[in-house]
Amino acid sequence: MRIEFPAPYDIHWQAMDIDKKSRARLKGQEARILWFTGLSAAGKSTIANLVDARLHALGKHTYLLDGDNIRLGLNKDLGFTDADRVENIRRIAEVAGLMVDAGLIALVAFISPFRRERAMARKLVAPGEFVEIFIDTPIAVAEARDPKGLYKKARLGELKDFTGIDSPYEPPQDPEIRIDTTATSAHEAAERIIAFLGFRG
Ligand code: ADX
Repeated sequence: MRIEFPAPYDIHWQAMDIDKKSRARLKGQEARILWFTGLSAAGKSTIANLVDARLHALGKHTYLLDGDNIRLGLNKDLGFTDADRVENIRRIAEVAGLMVDAGLIALVAFISPFRRERAMARKLVAPGEFVEIFIDTPIAVAEARDPKGLYKKARLGELKDFTGIDSPYEPPQDPEIRIDTTATSAHEAAERIIAFLGFRG
């Protein structure tokens, strides 16, 4: 594969002997990206954390990339404008893609509000390796939870560009899994996802 870079750069893809399949085989699994999307306080981190723990208990090799944590490190230079969110998701899609290449099951829990960026992340891996999980929580319910008091701040105008208030969220149109959190507990949601992946508890 050759990737075109603008002049004056001239960078070529370096071929490697060990590939994704052999790395995953050594771990006794198939690599995946489990991509959790939804509003702030929808329950993404809670459910992703439960799925991670279940997979770990099943002997699977995983890593959970969580928006709040990544924004304290790798992406601490980014804010919440549309452009910064696009860059946030671009970087994390690349990181998740590298994890899949390493044979891992990567769990990604970011609001990831834009369809285009989620589609871009899907295209970085092979068909079937990307599992989009829509944590579907109506804004009124997320706002009533408001565990970090961010919705309150946003309503008071103290926090700009808040998702669902003055920044858009584009719900998935055809996710592999949709969890209606008003009708499903976090544990039930985790079980559904584990079952979708074909694992038995
Ligand atoms: S994303 O839109 O770029 O995907 P990301 O998932 O990384 O967002 O970060 C969202 C988290 O940042 C929220 O859970 C919340 O705790 C915090 N946050 C702070 N400011 C905002 C904001 N303006 N909009 C949404 N989330 C915010």
